[in-house]
Amino acid sequence: MCGIIGYVGSENALPIIVKGLKKLEYRGYDSAGIALFGAAGFDVVKQKGTLSALEERLAGSTLSSFMGIGHTRWATHGEPSDINSHPHVGSKGRIAVVHNGIIENYRQLRERLTKRGIDFVSQTDSEVIPQLAEYYYDGDMLDTVVKVTNALGGSYALGFMCVDEPGTLIAVKKDNPLIIGVSEHGNFIASDVPAVLRHTNKVYYLDDAEIAVLTKDGVRFYNQDKDPVTKTPETVTWSVDSAEKGGWPHFMLKEIMEQPKIMRDTIRAAAEQAYLPNPGAAAGGLDVANFDKLVITACGSAYNAGVVAKYVFERLCRIPVEVELASEFRYKDPIVDERTLVILVSQSGETADTIAAMREAKSKGAVTLSIVNVVGSTISKEADHCLMTLAGPEIAVATTKAFSAQLVVLYTLAVGFAVRLGKLTPEQGQGMLEEIESLPEKTETILEQVDAIQKYASECIVYKSIFFIGRNIDYAIAMEGSLKLKEISYIHSEAYAGGELKHGTISLVEENTLVVAIGGCERLHGKIMSNIEQVISRGAKVLFIGNSREDDMGGKLSFVAIPKVNELFSPSLSVIVLQLFSYYVAANKGLDIDKPRNLAKSVTVE
Ligand code: F6R
Repeated sequence: MCGIIGYVGSENALPIIVKGLKKLEYRGYDSAGIALFGAAGFDVVKQKGTLSALEERLAGSTLSSFMGIGHTRWATHGEPSDINSHPHVGSKGRIAVVHNGIIENYRQLRERLTKRGIDFVSQTDSEVIPQLAEYYYDGDMLDTVVKVTNALGGSYALGFMCVDEPGTLIAVKKDNPLIIGVSEHGNFIASDVPAVLRHTNKVYYLDDAEIAVLTKDGVRFYNQDKDPVTKTPETVTWSVDSAEKGGWPHFMLKEIMEQPKIMRDTIRAAAEQAYLPNPGAAAGGLDVANFDKLVITACGSAYNAGVVAKYVFERLCRIPVEVELASEFRYKDPIVDERTLVILVSQSGETADTIAAMREAKSKGAVTLSIVNVVGSTISKEADHCLMTLAGPEIAVATTKAFSAQLVVLYTLAVGFAVRLGKLTPEQGQGMLEEIESLPEKTETILEQVDAIQKYASECIVYKSIFFIGRNIDYAIAMEGSLKLKEISYIHSEAYAGGELKHGTISLVEENTLVVAIGGCERLHGKIMSNIEQVISRGAKVLFIGNSREDDMGGKLSFVAIPKVNELFSPSLSVIVLQLFSYYVAANKGLDIDKPRNLAKSVTVE
């Protein structure tokens, strides 16, 4: 979490950094700050609150510089406050730093420096970095950065400026993302590509322990022994518009509406990666016949995509699948070996727990396959095999389009594996693929119902608690519906397997409880309808998302229709309704949908 940016070039760094921070705000938004290289030291402006509070402070500012760094914070150590905001400057005022990550040994370092008479002003872990850098500095910033990183424990992406080395910006990272952008007018460091897209699509992905030294004329890379390293820039295919709101009230709504297109793009790419008709070559030579079981591990919504996929893989491939929260998997001494395929699902490719889960799996000899949206991210690079989702940049904190893209990759993979294992004939596999290919068009018909869903959602802001139920794969997607609602609308919600209600949960249902029931699984239509009757007879109101309904149960049952599709792929349709429902509940409550409280999009700390 936290977003960092830095610029050195021929243009004024101030507006470039502030605009770049806007694109990184999804990473943290409890305070923000900038430091510009000035004639007499650094000009530092830091402000508690969202970026707009910093912008207000800077309004009418005449500050100008060819170099600067900026930061948008998601507090871990020390409350959100002006003083705890970044950039942090050492007490001599010589070195300024922005940091994303956590310094785990900061207490020891702080104690050592305090004994040497250095005064700290903030409660953050990050302040030890500029203090340590000033302590080590003896005229060579590259050398100082090596010494500092040798002393630091934990994770970091760092940008440094030193008063004694004008025109030089230095960056280094460990376990947190950092890209280097190169443009005609200057060079950048940033936590993520959208921050620099308006200036360049040429980026270098920094690896752990590599050091980048940027001037306005170029970038040089070094290893920890200060030997030069040769790197090749990559060309980002994301358009500038893809990271702009483009007239939509929120990124989340824009991203929901983009789903037919990104599903089409992702399905096409997934199918081209030769799952069908040559599934033996799936995912770069990966052969499912080599595995006894699959493990899918991920966090949050990506985990929910994994739960959906478990139903699909098990039904089509008849191979056991375990789905594990990455934060649990990493510490459970998992039973995996070289005959296990561990699938990591992650939009950002930088989620700390998912990275740790991947490394744990690899250390036990398992083969890893990642499904990732961000090119060059840690998980995309470190996994043995990688499939990309083509969702483009996802800015809203609550994921929508990346989730949909993950689902279609997982479905396509499952079909390819099933054909390879002889559980589906190539013709049956082709038929399945055609069903998957029909999803974007069917999604469009759901998006056409937006007005009706909005109207219904606007009446739901009164609820204190909302339950989501489904059976089998509908239960899996109910979990995603519940997560989406709670994270952006702050309404308590839980997802339950429909059949489980009577084992305890139904006691929570009372007059006017709202239950959202999902019925994409035609086979189990009668079962979910029984559950609906059970809750309605106890006073609940129900929103039913399914293919058809028999009656409106005395006005207690509202209905949103989703088109028919093979039940295994129906979560892709029900989730569109669930996303729109959550979005409009939150919108009608007037909440800051793209930046829900306490959340950041990319959870790069544990
Ligand atoms: C929910 C959401 C989060 C992420 C989770 C994993 O809307 O966005 O739950 O799904 O933090 O993030 P990635 O996919 O980047 O690993």
